Amino acid sequence: MSSVTARAIIYNAYGEPAETLKCHAYKIDVASLKPDDVVVETVACPINPSDINQIQGIYPSRPPISVDSLPELKSPAAVCGNEGLFKIIATGSNVSNFKKGDWCIPADVNFGSWCTHKRGLDRDFIKVPQTISVNQAATISVNPSSAYQMLTCFEELKPGDWFIQNGANSQVGRAAIQIGKKLGLNSLNIVRNRDDIDKLVADLTALGATKVITEDDNGSKEFGKTIKSWLDGKQIKLGMNCVGGSSVTGLARKLGPDATLLTYGGMSMKPVILPTSLFIFKNLTAKGFWITGNIKRIPNSRVDTIKAVLKMIEDGDLAEPTYNETKAKVSDLTDKKLLDIFTAGLANSKKGKQLILFE
Ligand SMILES: NC(=O)c1ccc[n+]([C@@H]2O[C@H](COP(=O)([O-])OP(=O)(O)OC[C@H]3O[C@@H](n4cnc5c(N)ncnc54)[C@H](OP(=O)(O)O)[C@@H]3O)[C@@H](O)[C@H]2O)c1
Repeated sequence: MSSVTARAIIYNAYGEPAETLKCHAYKIDVASLKPDDVVVETVACPINPSDINQIQGIYPSRPPISVDSLPELKSPAAVCGNEGLFKIIATGSNVSNFKKGDWCIPADVNFGSWCTHKRGLDRDFIKVPQTISVNQAATISVNPSSAYQMLTCFEELKPGDWFIQNGANSQVGRAAIQIGKKLGLNSLNIVRNRDDIDKLVADLTALGATKVITEDDNGSKEFGKTIKSWLDGKQIKLGMNCVGGSSVTGLARKLGPDATLLTYGGMSMKPVILPTSLFIFKNLTAKGFWITGNIKRIPNSRVDTIKAVLKMIEDGDLAEPTYNETKAKVSDLTDKKLLDIFTAGLANSKKGKQLILFE
């Protein structure tokens, strides 16, 4: 193999994905690698909310829009996507930490993962074992890693302690339930109501949720008594909020004295509304959590977190995540086909996590 035809989903300017995205095809010269180079093919990549916000230009950490992003670019562009699973298909003469066929994930954010192949340096990647599934490996660095860091970096939670979260059916929420269970924690999980709420409650309970309540219960003063009986004298020490609006108001009211509330998302697009009394009389600490910032703040925490989550996956503590999967057959791809796949995935991303699988 002397060269491969690669394709990537790119944007030249910020805007709504449906209007801004393009597919760029380019050649990667595999025969002339520099000593530390590797060439990877993409196995799978997810569509995360933050990927969309990057394209819109409203996410603080963004890849540069530059002509150096990819070979053969005619105008400055950025490649979409932050995480994914890749397979090494060629290595330069100095590369000893990877061999052909190894799986790896990007070592840093803003990688540009929505592509079929990429050339990079060996240090741009972290090896992952093939003992875990494609779905788990392709999505390990954002959602389960965020859940792990929120549960371990802010409050000293001990077995038997409680945390509360909204958006509990999100991938972060599901990971938090399972990681919390592994750490011996009790979780109070808030989800949006739906026709088949019993099924969702059963699902999350099977993952290890201690209690699951709806947003209606969350907003109900009456229901507070039921929650008190579940806590049996214990106080909730940590809250995790990815919704905002009235959801976080109800969530915060359930926190005990000196608790920490972490806001890591704003799915309702409404501001975080917190009663003044919680700050004055309960000494509430309300902070933001951003995995990109936390990784910068705590040296080595990206690799340490991925290792800890990997171990939990290998030990069977984290169930196989279910995604809406779309297959992209690389040998059949055209620019239009790849763009259509990502455009459809983006359009469906409100209906559940989308994963593009390359084969
Ligand atoms: N700060 C960080 O470092 C960080 C890291 C990872 C993720 N995040 C954020 O965490 C959030 C979840 O990410 P994810 O990838 O886990 O998401 P996901 O799996 O795609 O799930 C999205 C969740 O948001 C809920 N949701 C959507 N619209 C909502 C609304 N209007 N009101 C209330 N809930 C709503 C959905 O509820 P249903 O289940 O009812 O459909 C679903 O559970 C996102 O905001 C993401 O940006 C932040």
